[in-house]
Amino acid sequence: MSQLIDGRKAAQQVHAEVSELVTALKVSGINPSLKVILVGEDPASQVYVRNKGKRAAEVGIEAETVRLPGNASKEDIARCIQGFNLDDEVDGILLQLPLPTHLDHGDTEALLALIDPAKDVDGLHANNLGKLMRGHVGLRPCTPQGCMYLIEQTGVELKGLHAVVVGRSCIVGKPVAQMLTAADATVTLCHSKTRALDEICKSADLIVAAVGRPKFISGEWIKSNAIVIDVGINRMDNGRLCGDVDFDSAMGRAGFITPVPGGVGPLTIAFLLKNVAIAAKLRRRK
Ligand code: GUN
Repeated sequence: MSQLIDGRKAAQQVHAEVSELVTALKVSGINPSLKVILVGEDPASQVYVRNKGKRAAEVGIEAETVRLPGNASKEDIARCIQGFNLDDEVDGILLQLPLPTHLDHGDTEALLALIDPAKDVDGLHANNLGKLMRGHVGLRPCTPQGCMYLIEQTGVELKGLHAVVVGRSCIVGKPVAQMLTAADATVTLCHSKTRALDEICKSADLIVAAVGRPKFISGEWIKSNAIVIDVGINRMDNGRLCGDVDFDSAMGRAGFITPVPGGVGPLTIAFLLKNVAIAAKLRRRK
C-alpha cells in the first residue's frame, strides 16, 4: 500500500516554526514585512495572492498586496520594485507571475533581476540561484524547499538514491535537482522531450514531477515503493485538479505519494513566509 504524504499537515508544522521565528524577531524589535506586487486580474493569481495574505497574517507577518492595472508598463512595475528595494521597512518583495501578455519573457526576467537579492523571497534572482548552485547560504525557491521537506517526512535517507526530476523550470525542476544533489542523491533531470522517459522513471527511487502536464507520468513507470512528489496542479475538463502523475495508477505502486491538491501546494506559501522571516533576520541583524 502507498502511504499518502500529507502536505497540509506538513505546512502547519512549517507555519508553527515560522510563527516562532517571527515572535522572536518581534521581541528584538523587527517586524517582518512582505510586499506582493500583482499586475492585472489573472483569476488564479488573485487566489494565490489572497491566500498568501491570509497565511502571512496567521504567522504575524505584515503582508500588503500592491495592485497595478493590467496595462501597467515594464517601467511602472520597475518603479514599484525600486521603491520597495529602497524602503528599509520592507523585508520581502514578491512579483506575482505570470505577468500580463503585453510583457514578454525578457521583461519578466529583467523585472525579477531588479529585485534586491536580499529581499527576493521567491529565491528566483540569479544571485540566489547562484548561491544555491555554489552551496552558499541564501534565499532558496519556495516550492523546491517544500519538496525537500515532504521527502524528509518519509524518513527515507536520500544518500545514494536515484532521483528523477521531470521538468526543467528555474522555479522548480532545476533548483530541486540541485537540492537533491546537495543531499547526496544521484539526479537525472528529465523533461517533456526526454526519450525513453518511462525507462528512466522505472529506475527511480524518487520521482519529482514538475512538468506541468496532466497525468503525464503513468503509474506503470513507478518502481515498487518509490517516493513520488507531484508538483503539478492541472485543471481537468471536469473542473477538478490533477497532478502530473496519474494518481490512481500510481497508488499501490509508490511507497509514498503526495496527493493533488493537498500535497506540495500548501508548502509553497509556508516556505515563502519562512523566507520572509529569514530575509528579515539576515537584513536587519546589524
Ligand atoms: N505564480 C505561481 N506560483 C508562483 C510563485 O511561487 N511565485 C511567484 N512570484 N509567482 C507565482
